[in-house]
Amino acid sequence: MNIASYKGAYRADFYSDFSFTAEVAQQSHKFFIIDKKVFGIYRETLSKLVGSDLYYLLDAVEENKNVDKALEIMDQMVNMPSKRNTVLVAIGGGIVQDVAAFIANVLYRGIPWILVPTTLLAQTDSCIGSKSSLNFRGYKNLLGYFYPPDRIYINTEFLHTLERKDYFSGLGEIMKCALMAGYGSFRETAGNMEDVLAHKEDALLKEIHKALEFKRNVIEQDEFDRDYRNIMNFGHTFGHALESVSGYAVPHGQAVSYGMMIANRISCQRGYISREMLQEIDTAIWNIVMPELVCRDFFAEALYLNAMKKDKKYTGGQHTCILFDGDGVGKYTDIRDGEIMDAAGRVMEEAGKRLGK
Ligand SMILES: NC(=O)c1ccc[n+]([C@@H]2O[C@H](COP(=O)([O-])OP(=O)(O)OC[C@H]3O[C@@H](n4cnc5c(N)ncnc54)[C@H](O)[C@@H]3O)[C@@H](O)[C@H]2O)c1
Repeated sequence: MNIASYKGAYRADFYSDFSFTAEVAQQSHKFFIIDKKVFGIYRETLSKLVGSDLYYLLDAVEENKNVDKALEIMDQMVNMPSKRNTVLVAIGGGIVQDVAAFIANVLYRGIPWILVPTTLLAQTDSCIGSKSSLNFRGYKNLLGYFYPPDRIYINTEFLHTLERKDYFSGLGEIMKCALMAGYGSFRETAGNMEDVLAHKEDALLKEIHKALEFKRNVIEQDEFDRDYRNIMNFGHTFGHALESVSGYAVPHGQAVSYGMMIANRISCQRGYISREMLQEIDTAIWNIVMPELVCRDFFAEALYLNAMKKDKKYTGGQHTCILFDGDGVGKYTDIRDGEIMDAAGRVMEEAGKRLGK
């Protein structure tokens, strides 16, 4: 798959094994940033790939997605004999990606970088789209720019070792893209979910492709998120707040799934979608959501609304959110606090029922 960008087109290639490492190994002057857990699981293969090159093992937690961590890594990189010709290789999920993209962007005003996404969320969503985002002063993704990798190697073999919550997190983004493409597309993906949940390779690859193709079409029209790309934030405004109030205990894609359910309740309340459609979509989303990850405290009004107001897209007054209308999604700038808390409360009530509380 080729993706156009302001930096030039870049490729994402698909593998179901580690044969891609031969190509990565051919690069000179490599510095690796590798997810510590991933390195532990795939030690033999990754040690061979790293060879005598320098590497940094990053603990993939949100607390490490910050400038201090980026500076610590750059401290090592500036001591290398290679400078602007250093090739940064990032192997990990969205956290490793975000830190690596930031470094590749600012070090020597930009060095080449290769991305090997190892989570379903990174393979299906974050690997394309150019964004680098670091957390700042306790808030999500406040710092960063747009700096796509030069090459992406997607190996689905990595997905077998993901924890359930991280696998489900990727499914949230898959469902988001399917829904944004319209009701027909949603039904197709919902029908494929049983096979995806059973890790069936064909079904999984089909959905990864479908989500990436949807996103590619959006980012190629608005790479810098000035207008049209805002639609990709479907479920995110509500989701980011949930991630934040849970102290990131709710993984990104899971939070997005909750965000979609809150958004869809607002759509239904406003008459943009029918109750039947809401119920059908809800049923599909609940299949990939873990209710045990949320608790009522996260939706305490002051806490939740305050977190929503810290979102970088909040401009004061009413909230700007992306809502589904059956055919696709649109941007609405008039969402009121009361509508949000009402919808969030009803989602929480449903989560409680599912947990038998
Ligand atoms: N830049 C973007 O465009 C963009 C888009 C979406 C999300 N994000 C960011 O991505 C982050 C979330 O990333 P994520 O969900 O990809 O995962 P992650 O990087 O947060 O990792 C989640 C967990 O999975 C582990 N892990 C990774 N690969 C594994 C594997 N193959 N086997 C076993 N364990 C593995 C990690 O060690 C970690 O414990 C958030 O910070 C989010 O804000 C960025």
